Amino acid sequence: FNPIITIDGPSGAGKGTVAYRLAQALGLNLLDSGALYRIVGLLAHEAGLLDGQVADLEEKLGALTEKLDLAFRVNDDTKTVEIVIDGQVLTKDIRNETVGGYASQVAVFPKVRAALLKVQQDMGKKGVVADGRDMGTVIFPNATAKIFLTASAKARADRRVAQLQMMGKPADYEAILAEIQARDERDQNRAAAPSKPAEDALVIDSSALNADEVYAKVVEFCAQ
Ligand code: CDP
Repeated sequence: FNPIITIDGPSGAGKGTVAYRLAQALGLNLLDSGALYRIVGLLAHEAGLLDGQVADLEEKLGALTEKLDLAFRVNDDTKTVEIVIDGQVLTKDIRNETVGGYASQVAVFPKVRAALLKVQQDMGKKGVVADGRDMGTVIFPNATAKIFLTASAKARADRRVAQLQMMGKPADYEAILAEIQARDERDQNRAAAPSKPAEDALVIDSSALNADEVYAKVVEFCAQ
């Protein structure tokens, strides 16, 4: 039996932390679907496709995504998950808000989403904890357990600021809140796979919960 556990929800709700912990505890692979959209977003930006009026944009983005050879690989030395593109380990930073914005720009296009469908489903074949926006609704509709983790935009902006400060990076609360709201708006209101809970998902609002409390709720739900 290969369990599939999906954890969807908006940016900064704490999906990544829960997904990582759960995957470790259950000995399952982790699918960080957002990383795939971030890579496509970054490559699209580098190709000049996100700069304004581009003819046949969806076709071009779909083609770019389809020809990508993407894989995740665990580096046992550094204990991190590396992203391998066309045989090369990705060294560029994709975990910043600028690239998050590119990701959500390319994520509105059905051709991009379709091109990433099979890669993601293949990664689930041996069981997986999958983190994203449409894991429970589109990619793994028959998942073993589905969670939708959310929090108020303010709580999410507070956490992001704390995270940046911990890394010694500059953090502008108002700018971060505005970026979170803009990305929520685009992710929730797009026609293709809008970010929303699956009907059979457990919805957890983490605004007033810490990481341990969220994790305990998730474990309790998965054990049922
Ligand atoms: O870490 P965070 O939640 O901020 O973002 P992410 O999960 O890395 O996703 C970045 C962007 O990719 C999201 O804002 C979505 O627009 C898009 N995405 C998506 O459409 N579907 C997914 N399954 C995952 C991400």
